[in-house]
Amino acid sequence: METVVSGIRSTGNLHLGNYYGAIQNFVKMQHEYNCFFFIADLHSLTTHPTPANLHTNVKSVLVEYLAAGIDPEKATIYVQSDVQEIAELYLYLNMNAYLGELERSTSFKDKVRAHPDNVNAGLLTYPVLMAADILIHRATKVPVGKDQEQHLEMARTFGNRFNRLYNKEYFPEPYAFNFSEKLVKIPGLDGKGKMGKSEGEGNAVFLSDAPEVIRKKVMRAVTDSGPIKENQAKPEEIQNLFDLMTVVSTPDTYAHFDNLYNNMQIRYGDLKKQLAEDMIIATAPIRERINEIANDAPYLRQVARYGAIKARESAAKTIKEVREIIGFKSF
Ligand code: TYM
Repeated sequence: METVVSGIRSTGNLHLGNYYGAIQNFVKMQHEYNCFFFIADLHSLTTHPTPANLHTNVKSVLVEYLAAGIDPEKATIYVQSDVQEIAELYLYLNMNAYLGELERSTSFKDKVRAHPDNVNAGLLTYPVLMAADILIHRATKVPVGKDQEQHLEMARTFGNRFNRLYNKEYFPEPYAFNFSEKLVKIPGLDGKGKMGKSEGEGNAVFLSDAPEVIRKKVMRAVTDSGPIKENQAKPEEIQNLFDLMTVVSTPDTYAHFDNLYNNMQIRYGDLKKQLAEDMIIATAPIRERINEIANDAPYLRQVARYGAIKARESAAKTIKEVREIIGFKSF
């Protein structure tokens, strides 16, 4: 059976981008593959969370994984920092990751632009840690959104380089995966790019948002003054709202508003109201379970402990073999 690995950074609550880009695939894949889904708390250290925030954020991702339908009996769910073998593999892979290629990574360049005062080495080697996450279980499929595609390419590069250096076909090549064949990018509500937790207030709709919060955010979404020609191309901010409709609304609803737009009869207020209601319906079952699970400390403890044991079993096997390949020998 093919092995699947994916993770989400523990930097806050999960939003619709995480859900439709990644988690929806996790939930489907757990029935067909040997799955490892983790909470990337080591990755979150690049932003220097306080100890209290770190734990709160790890917990909320764990709760939201479970609420979204990841089943700990089917998939291995674990906290990245519980599996120390990942940090060890990261160290080995770092020896063959080069400054030039790391500096060229788009996400690194974005981070440097956004936070020029915090360009730490962890940020630079972020793709190496990601490669370690994936290669530690020798996974071949990685369910992620479109924004992670370049990181997957780097993971293949680092795995192949290790294989070449030691002249052994040890790590298989991991590829980004989505059930719909195409990787997705869920837009945010600010009329610009993707939905993301660090993209500013009101851009992201969270799985835990109450209905009235969702309504408020969607009603504030950026729009223009309306089409001036029949069948004209939609500007980015309007296309974004339609793209969001494709994931939460029915095809009939989408077609209805698309026709109104093309006939120049669209009222954005009506479109937003519908979009908000469809988002509320889509997230309702998850939202309800979030509250239930968050209060069940013994269950969360049991899931995290069981997941750590299973993940370490797999990781320890890889590290043992990697150490032999590298040439570490005991006296
Ligand atoms: P992160 O935490 O930013 O996002 C988690 C997952 O959600 C997807 N995603 C989106 N997909 C579509 N549209 C969006 N607007 C959107 N926003 C987020 C991301 O593509 C991702 O799949 N580096 C990773 C976490 C990670 C990881 C890994 C993933 C660490 N190690 C190993 C896979 C394998 C990250 O920061 O994702």
